[in-house]
Amino acid sequence: MSASAPGRTARHYLMCEPTHYTVSYEINPWMDKTRYTDVDLAVQQWRRLRDTYLDLGNTIETIDPLEGLPDMVYAANGATVIDGIVYSAKFRYPERQPEGPAYQKWFADRGYLTHTAEQINEGEGDMLFVGRTLLAGTGFRTDRAAHREAAALFGIEVVSLELIDPRFYHLDTALAVLSSDVDDPQVAYYPPAFSPASQEVLAERYPDAVHAVEADAVALGLNAVSDGENVVVAPAATHLAGALRERGYTPIPVETTELLKGGGGAKCCTLEIRPTLV
Ligand code: ARG
Repeated sequence: MSASAPGRTARHYLMCEPTHYTVSYEINPWMDKTRYTDVDLAVQQWRRLRDTYLDLGNTIETIDPLEGLPDMVYAANGATVIDGIVYSAKFRYPERQPEGPAYQKWFADRGYLTHTAEQINEGEGDMLFVGRTLLAGTGFRTDRAAHREAAALFGIEVVSLELIDPRFYHLDTALAVLSSDVDDPQVAYYPPAFSPASQEVLAERYPDAVHAVEADAVALGLNAVSDGENVVVAPAATHLAGALRERGYTPIPVETTELLKGGGGAKCCTLEIRPTLV
C-alpha cells in the first residue's frame, strides 16, 4: 500500500455557474421535481467550490449558463478533454441534449480541436482519465460504442466498467481518480456500484485502491476532485476522508448539498481540460 500521495499538479478546469439551477425533470433517482431548490444556495456553494480550486492554485474558466438547461452546472458531462483534444458529449436524455453543442462550441471558439460524438456519451461523467488509461462507465448513460469511439479518437487504452446501481449512474459517482501519476495511478471506488466482472477488473488494476463504504457513496463522496494531493470531497463522506488522510492525501471538505438535489457533487461541476501531452 502506498503511504503517500504522489504530489499535486496544477489543473485547468471549466465550470458553469448554476444561475438557472432547478430540478424541473427527473433523470436520476436523486432528482425530485416536487422538492424545493434554492438557487441562491446553489450559487453560493458553487462559488465556494470555485474559490477552493483557485486557492489551491488551479486555473478556472467558465462557460455562460443557458436558460432552460439547469443541469449545465454539471460541467463534467460537457465533454472529455485529453491531450488538448475535445470529444463532445452526446446526452442520453432530450432534456440535456443541447448542452453537448454548447460545450463543444465553447471549446471550438477557443481554438481546440473538437470531435463531434457519434455515440451517446456523457463526457467526463463516464470517462475518467487515470495514468494513461481511460476508465469508461456504461450501464445507465454512456453507450459502450462510445468507449470504442473514445479509444480511436484519443489513441489510448480504454477500460469499460459496468455500473449496476441506479444511484451511481455515472462513473464519477462511483469512482474517484486520486492520482493520475503514470507510475502510480490511484483511485477510490465503491465496489457494489459495479458488476462482478467490473469489480474484478478494478481489483486487478488497482489492488491498493481506497474502498469507499455505502455512507460515503450516498453522500456522493466519490464525486471528488483530486489534484494528486488535495482532494475536494463532500464533508459527509467521513470514512472516505479518513482513508484519504491515511494515504497521505489532504481531504478538503466542500459542501455541495444543494447541487446533490440534481444528483451531482464537486466532480460533476468540474470539467478538466488536459493540455497537449508532451
Ligand atoms: N442531473 C444530472 C443528470 O442526471 C446530474 C449530472 C451529474 N453529473 C455527473 N458528472 N455525475 O444528468
